Amino acid sequence: MARYSFFFFFSFSFSFYPMVFSQLSSNQKTTMINLSRSLNVTSISWDINKEPNPCLWKGVSCNSPSYSSVIKISLSGVFLSSSDFLPLVCQIESLQNLDVSGNRLSKIPSKFLSDCGKLHELKLLNFSYNNLEGSLPLFVGFAGLEFLDLSHNRLSGAIDLELDGLVGLRSLNLSLNNFTGSVPTRLGKSKVLKELQLSMNKFHGIIPVDIVGYRNLTLIDFSSNNISGSVPDRIGELSKLEVLILSSNSLSGIPQSLSNITSLTRFAANSNKFNGAIPAGITKHLRNLDLSYNSLSGSISSDLLSPLNLQTVDLSNNGLSGSIPTALSPSLVRLRLGSNSLDYVIPTAAIATLQNLTYLELENNALTGLISTELGFCKTLMLLNLAGNQLSGSLPMELGKLSHLQVLKLELNLLTGQIPIQIAQMSKLSILNISWNSLNGSIPPLVASLKNLINMNLQGNNLSGSIPENIGSMTSLMELQLGENHLSGDIPSMPTTLQIALNLSSNLFEGHIPVTLARLTGLEILDLSNNKFSGEIPAFFRQLGALTQLLLSNNQLSGEIPEFDSRVIVNISGNEGLTNTSHTEPPTTSPKSEKAKMSCAEIILLAVVAAVFAVGGCTILAISLLGYKLVKKRN
Ligand SMILES: *[C@@H]1O[C@H](CO)[C@@H](O)[C@H](O)[C@H]1NC(C)=O
Ligand SMILES: *[C@@H]1O[C@H](CO)[C@@H](O)[C@H](O)[C@H]1NC(C)=O
Ligand SMILES: *[C@@H]1O[C@H](CO)[C@@H](O)[C@H](O)[C@H]1NC(C)=O
Ligand SMILES: *[C@@H]1O[C@H](CO)[C@@H](O)[C@H](O)[C@H]1NC(C)=O
Ligand SMILES: *[C@@H]1O[C@H](CO)[C@@H](O)[C@H](O)[C@H]1NC(C)=O
Ligand SMILES: *[C@@H]1O[C@H](CO)[C@@H](O)[C@H](O)[C@H]1NC(C)=O
Ligand SMILES: *[C@@H]1O[C@H](CO)[C@@H](O)[C@H](O)[C@H]1NC(C)=O
Ligand SMILES: *[C@@H]1O[C@H](CO)[C@@H](O)[C@H](O)[C@H]1NC(C)=O
Ligand SMILES: *[C@@H]1O[C@H](CO)[C@@H](O)[C@H](O)[C@H]1NC(C)=O
Ligand SMILES: *[C@@H]1O[C@H](CO)[C@@H](O)[C@H](O)[C@H]1NC(C)=O
Ligand SMILES: *[C@@H]1O[C@H](CO)[C@@H](O)[C@H](O)[C@H]1NC(C)=O
Ligand SMILES: *[C@@H]1O[C@H](CO)[C@@H](O)[C@H](O)[C@H]1NC(C)=O
Repeated sequence: MARYSFFFFFSFSFSFYPMVFSQLSSNQKTTMINLSRSLNVTSISWDINKEPNPCLWKGVSCNSPSYSSVIKISLSGVFLSSSDFLPLVCQIESLQNLDVSGNRLSKIPSKFLSDCGKLHELKLLNFSYNNLEGSLPLFVGFAGLEFLDLSHNRLSGAIDLELDGLVGLRSLNLSLNNFTGSVPTRLGKSKVLKELQLSMNKFHGIIPVDIVGYRNLTLIDFSSNNISGSVPDRIGELSKLEVLILSSNSLSGIPQSLSNITSLTRFAANSNKFNGAIPAGITKHLRNLDLSYNSLSGSISSDLLSPLNLQTVDLSNNGLSGSIPTALSPSLVRLRLGSNSLDYVIPTAAIATLQNLTYLELENNALTGLISTELGFCKTLMLLNLAGNQLSGSLPMELGKLSHLQVLKLELNLLTGQIPIQIAQMSKLSILNISWNSLNGSIPPLVASLKNLINMNLQGNNLSGSIPENIGSMTSLMELQLGENHLSGDIPSMPTTLQIALNLSSNLFEGHIPVTLARLTGLEILDLSNNKFSGEIPAFFRQLGALTQLLLSNNQLSGEIPEFDSRVIVNISGNEGLTNTSHTEPPTTSPKSEKAKMSCAEIILLAVVAAVFAVGGCTILAISLLGYKLVKKRN
C-alpha cells in the first residue's frame, strides 16, 4: 500500500515538474486570488487552497513553457451577473485574451475600459451573449485589440467614433443588438479590419461608400437590418472579399462590379428589393449565390449557372422567365429556381451529368414536357421538387433508381398513367406528394415497403381499386391523404402511427365505418366525408383523445349522434338518417379554432424537411419554411 502511495506521489510530482520550478509572479498570483474571491458564483471552482497554481484553474491559460504570467482568462457561461470583477482583470498586464461570453453581465464598467485600455498585450475581448445594455462605450487605448465580440446583447443607439481608436481592430462583431443609425464606417483609423458582422440590428440608410476604404475586408455581414438603396459600385474594389451577406434588408441594386472580386465565394442577398435582370458575370467566381425572395426579372443568362466552382444557387421567389439554361456547373449541389415564371422543358440531360446534385427545386413555374427517364441518373438526389408545373406524361419507372431520395414532390402537375411499382425502391423516402395529377390505376401494394415514409399524399388523382391491405405495416406514416380519387372496397387496418391526418374523403367507400379506426389514438384529423358510409357513427370516436376534426358529411349515416368534446370540430351535415339529440346540433363546429396552433406531428414533419435541408447547410431555408407554415396556418 505504502509503496503504491509513494509511486503515485512520485508520478504526480513528476508530471507537474515544470510548475514546481516556475511560478506566477506574486503580483499576478495575488490578483488571481483576489479575482477568485470577487467572482461570487458557485459555478467556478477557483480555490487557491485546493489548487495553489492559478495557471491550472479552469479557464486560465499561462504562457508556456515558463508559466510565469497569465495570458488568457475564459469565464464563459458561468452565470456571472455582476460586472464588479472586471477592473481586477486589467491588473494582469500580460493578458491577451478575455472571454466572458454567455453570462448575464449588463454593463462594462468605465474602470475596466480605462484600465484595460492600457494593456498592450490585449488582443481579444469577447462579451457576446450577455445582457449589455445602453449605448456603445468609447474605447480609448486598446492599441493591440484585434478581436471585439459584442454580439448577442442589447446595446442600442447609433455608432459614431466609439471604435475609431481601435487601430489594430481586425474582427468586429456587433450582430444581434439593437443598434440604430447608419452603418458605422469609423472602425479603426488604420483600417486593418477584416471581418465585419453587423447583422440583426436596426441600422438603416444606405451602405456608405467609405466601407471600401477597409481594403482588407474578407467578410461583410449586414443581414437583417433596414438598409436601403443600391449596393455601391465601388464595393468591387474590395479585392480580398470572400463573403458578402446582405440578406433581409431593403436594398435595390446589385453592382456589376461584384464580378471583379476574384476571391468572392459567397454572395447572399435574399429577401431584399432587387429588381431587373441579374447582372451578367456575377457568378464567375462564386461558390454560393442566394438571391431568393427579390423581384428579379428577365431570363437567366445562359452562362449564369455554368461557372465551375458554383455549388449552390438559390433564385427562388422572383419573377424570372424564359428557360432554364443547359450549361450547368459540374459542382452543383443545390439548384433552387422555384416560384418564378420559368417555362419550356427541364434540361434533364444536363442535370443528369451532375455528380453531386442533392437538392433540385424547380417548383411553381410553368415548366412543360415529360419527366425524363434520365432523371434516374441523378443518384445523389435527396430532394426533388417539381410541383406546380405543367409536366405531363407518366411517372418514369427510373425514378426508382433515386435510392437516396427523401422528399419527392410532384403535386399539381398534369401527370397521367399509373404509379410505377419501382417507387417502392426509394427506401429512404419520407415525403411522397404526387397529389393533384391525373394518375390512374390502383395504389401498388409495394408502397407499403416504404418504411421511412412519413407523409403520403395521393389526393386528387384518378386512382381506383382498394387501399393495399398491408398499409398497416407502414410504421412511420403520420399523414395519409387519399381524398378525391375513385377508391373503393374494404378499408384495411391503418398504421397506428397516423397523427396528422387520415383523409379518405370523396371516394367510393361504402358500408360501416370500420372498427379498426378505433386504434388510431394519436390521430388529429379524420376525413371520411363524401363517401357512402352507412350505419351508425361509432361510439369509439369519443375515445380518440387527439382528435380535433371529424368530418363525416355527405354519407349515408344513421342513428343517434354521439356527444363529442367541445374541442373536436365535427361535421355531420348531409347524412339524412341521423337523429338529433339534446347535446349536439348538426352540423356543429367547435367554438374555438385550433387551427392557429401547430400540432406536434406537424412540427415533427417540418423537422424532417428541415433536416433534409440542413444537410446542405441551409437551415435558414428550413426556418423560413417553418415561418411560412405558421403564417399560412394563421391565415
Ligand atoms: C488583493 O486584495 C487585498 C485585500 O483584499 C488588497 O490589499 C490587495 O491590494 C489586492 N491586490 C491586488 C493585486 O489586487
Ligand atoms: C455573494 O453573493 C451572495 C448572494 O448571492 C451575497 O449575499 C454576498 O454578499 C456576496 N458576497 C460578495 C463578497 O460579493
Ligand atoms: C465569443 O464567444 C462565443 C461563445 O462562446 C463564440 O461563439 C465566439 O466565436 C467568440 N468570439 C470570438 C471573436 O472568438
Ligand atoms: C430593442 O428596442 C426596442 C424599442 O426600441 C425594444 O422594444 C426591444 O425590446 C429591444 N430589444 C432588445 C433585444 O433589447
Ligand atoms: C462574431 O463574428 C466573428 C467574426 O466573424 C466570429 O469569429 C465570431 O465567432 C462571431 N461571434 C459569435 C458569437 O458568433
Ligand atoms: C492589410 O493587412 C496587411 C497585413 O495583413 C497590412 O500590412 C495592410 O496595411 C492592410 N491594408 C490596409 C489597407 O490597411
Ligand atoms: C425601415 O426604414 C423605413 C424608412 O427607410 C421605415 O419606414 C421603416 O419603418 C423601417 N422599418 C423598420 C422595421 O424599422
Ligand atoms: C473590373 O476591373 C477592370 C480592371 O480593373 C475594370 O476595367 C472594370 O471597369 C471593372 N468592372 C467593373 C464592373 O467594375
Ligand atoms: C463532388 O463531391 C466530392 C466530395 O465532396 C468532391 O470531391 C468532388 O470534387 C465533387 N465533384 C464535382 C464534380 O464537383
Ligand atoms: C402536398 O401537396 C398539397 C397540394 O399542394 C399540399 O396541400 C400539401 O401541403 C403537400 N404536402 C406535403 C407534405 O408536401
Ligand atoms: C389510365 O389512363 C390512360 C390514359 O391516360 C389509359 O390509357 C389507361 O387505360 C388508364 N388505365 C387504367 C387502369 O384506368
Ligand atoms: C378518370 O377515369 C375515368 C375512367 O375510370 C375517366 O372517365 C375520367 O375521364 C378520368 N378522369 C381524369 C381526370 O382523368
